[in-house]
Amino acid sequence: MNAPADIKNVTSGASDQERGYRSFRLGSFGFRRDEYFAHITWKTRDGRPLSHTMDIGHYLQALMRDVAWGFFYGGVNFDPVIGTVNHYKSVDFQAGAFNETMKSAGVDLLENFPVDEIREVFESMLDDWTNEGFDPFAAPQETGSPYGRKRGNNTAAVTRARELADRCVGLKDDLLLRTDERGSPVNRGFADVPQDEPELHPEPGFETEVHAFNLFAFLSRSQVTWNPSFTSVVKYSYMCPTTEEHMLPIMHANDRVEWFFQLSDEIHWDCADKRSGKPLARVIMKPGDMAAMPAYCRHQGFSPKRSMLLVWENGSPNLVYEIQKGDAPEVPVQFD
Ligand code: PHB
Ligand code: FE
Repeated sequence: MNAPADIKNVTSGASDQERGYRSFRLGSFGFRRDEYFAHITWKTRDGRPLSHTMDIGHYLQALMRDVAWGFFYGGVNFDPVIGTVNHYKSVDFQAGAFNETMKSAGVDLLENFPVDEIREVFESMLDDWTNEGFDPFAAPQETGSPYGRKRGNNTAAVTRARELADRCVGLKDDLLLRTDERGSPVNRGFADVPQDEPELHPEPGFETEVHAFNLFAFLSRSQVTWNPSFTSVVKYSYMCPTTEEHMLPIMHANDRVEWFFQLSDEIHWDCADKRSGKPLARVIMKPGDMAAMPAYCRHQGFSPKRSMLLVWENGSPNLVYEIQKGDAPEVPVQFD
């Protein structure tokens, strides 16, 4: 039996308007936030209304990565139900398309959007739904609460761009090491990381072409978590170190092989089949461990204390199509 219309406001407290957040549409998906949750709605393939609910803090942390990374490589799953798939010129938003139970029940939906359209909706949603004092890139212990009615915003935090080295880090005109120059403090989790820099003795005339820096000291000052920076780019080989604490707020379904090198501390990974979501492996990584994530898996990391991770990506724009055609492998090595 339907409740009388006026019961709604009695039982749910404030109305959406009073809470102060905007609602959004993307194709046939609807997005609404209240004090604790993001609600995503759609019509199933056979026309029935369905909805999905996520904790708003987790939702904003996932949305922040998707926006800042330009939809990343392959799939960004916010949780086992919703997420995006990057086709580089367009992006899918999907609910249940990589969840075997929902897919076999026929209640999933996937729609494709031009990159600009989905980016604009996501950017506006992230800005409107992020309250003053909450930084979706920060570790949960280092930021305020995402909950409650709308309180201001945090535009500076949600529009910070991924750090990209223009040239070899530390050389003239490279901007990355400015983080150090700005004097960002060493994170509490890395108080024991030595801050001394390597000695350099370039031959006369090569002073502006030879450089070395202490990567551990650089990373120890990172203000964000789960945000790989492009620290070296050699053709399509991207070295992307990052500092991690709490959990990667997305399950990444890569469209190519990706390597992890655990530089310090510990990360536990859940790996699952990227199409069905069926669990595949638990990978416990300790300092010095390396792992390769095959292109058919999705993965989510858990870092009990702040740790340093080097993510190594092959950024070739052709690789995804080579894998689709069977010309490149989905795994890093094939054993006969
Ligand atoms: C990944 O999905 O591979 C990933 C993303 C962000 C990180 C680390 C790993 O900080
Ligand atoms: Fe990944």
